[in-house]
Amino acid sequence: MFDLLASTLIGTRDSLGEQACVLRGFALPYVPELLPEIEHIASAAPLRNMVTAGGHTISVALTNCGALGWTSDRRGYRYAAHDPATGLAWPAMPAVFLRLASLAAAAAGFDNFQPDACLINRYLPGNRLSLHQDKNEKDFREPIVSVSLGIPAMFLFGGHQRSDKTQRIPLFHGDVAVWGGADRMRYHGVMPLKEENHPLLGVRRINMTFRKAG
Ligand code: SIN
Ligand code: FE2
Repeated sequence: MFDLLASTLIGTRDSLGEQACVLRGFALPYVPELLPEIEHIASAAPLRNMVTAGGHTISVALTNCGALGWTSDRRGYRYAAHDPATGLAWPAMPAVFLRLASLAAAAAGFDNFQPDACLINRYLPGNRLSLHQDKNEKDFREPIVSVSLGIPAMFLFGGHQRSDKTQRIPLFHGDVAVWGGADRMRYHGVMPLKEENHPLLGVRRINMTFRKAG
């Protein structure tokens, strides 16, 4: 069911706002290069469940690559040049990641996007991400580029207030969501993942979020 819908959407674009869209299947040609790079990054900087300032454990496991990595602990959210688990610099951003992120940004109307941070999120069935704004980056003029791999997720895209009505957009393997400009600070989140099995990734979803953080 999902497979049929996903395959008929490939190459299309869904508008989520004035400067926000989903590029259906945009990442598919890159997948054979992305997966081994993700494995390599996760072997150097393992996926882990971080805690928030409030002491809540984030159900989505994460790691990073690039000059800066998104982290959270009892002191709050921030970007850091080193992996707090190992004290080492985050793994370098692979060239194919940069290429994909900047071509997707350009396709969505944002030229010259050069991310310095790639957050890699691993969702298992039941994992969710509550509504939030991405606001730890220095320059809000740069867009967010978010690549979905593996089992589908229902993305929530809201407004500028947490209480604003949200659109529900299914994100499939290979889809790339981009939001910036007037839509850069909109609330967004992910509904609890349903149990599914993806032929390449098994029972998981990987999301790669590219940002210019520093
Ligand atoms: C995020 O908001 O950082 C991730 C969104 C997603 O997993 O699609
Ligand atoms: Fe986000």
